[in-house]
Amino acid sequence: MKKIYIYPSILSADFANLGKEVKLLKEAGASGLHVDIMDGHFVKNISLGVPVVESLQGCGLVLDVHLMLTNPLNFIEIFAKAGANSLTFHVECFDNLEECILRAKSFGCKVGLAIKPFTSVDAVEPFLTKPKFASLVDLIVVMTVEPGFAGQVFKESMLLKVEQIRNLSSSVHIAVDGGVNFKNAGRVVAAGADWLVAGSTIFNSSSYAVALQKLKFGSSSVDE
Ligand code: DX5
Ligand code: ZN
Repeated sequence: MKKIYIYPSILSADFANLGKEVKLLKEAGASGLHVDIMDGHFVKNISLGVPVVESLQGCGLVLDVHLMLTNPLNFIEIFAKAGANSLTFHVECFDNLEECILRAKSFGCKVGLAIKPFTSVDAVEPFLTKPKFASLVDLIVVMTVEPGFAGQVFKESMLLKVEQIRNLSSSVHIAVDGGVNFKNAGRVVAAGADWLVAGSTIFNSSSYAVALQKLKFGSSSVDE
């Protein structure tokens, strides 16, 4: 049975008690933390920045940093040094993706490429099929909402994109980000994803441990 990773998106956490939230997520068995960085330009919102990532460094959980930035290139070093374990860029950003990938790798980070709902799979295909990239890209993040805000409705039609990407690569991690809940988690995994990002679903639950198990159970996965 394939391993399913659950990454709570801390955008929906109680920031006045972030340390406590992280401790609870760790005890609940989270695979890591998904940290949403927004610049108010690439998306219509401003969220977290470098100090938050720095404050999480050493918390004992993997830090998966989602860069919703028009120009991520200049921020790779600073986020890597702040503690990011993986850096995800949008294929729609204005910087050269090859440069972004190589720079992130040079700082020892895993690399993710995210695609917005209106972007076709063609945009990531070369990064999965060309030998020079295939070993460098660890994760494809399929946005199942328009990036920018937590708590939006999951776009079912994105499941086809997950299937298409899984057909291009059997080994790349495929994450789904936006609107993931107990009802759709199983379909997400059946389509080929192995990495669920969930904000509202987890933080609106009274028990994070139960929420994580329900996301996994919905995905027919077993406890680890
Ligand atoms: C949206 C962010 C998501 C968001 C997910 O731009 O990238 O990570 O926080 O939140 P939910 O799970 O509430 O849709
Ligand atoms: Zn995200």
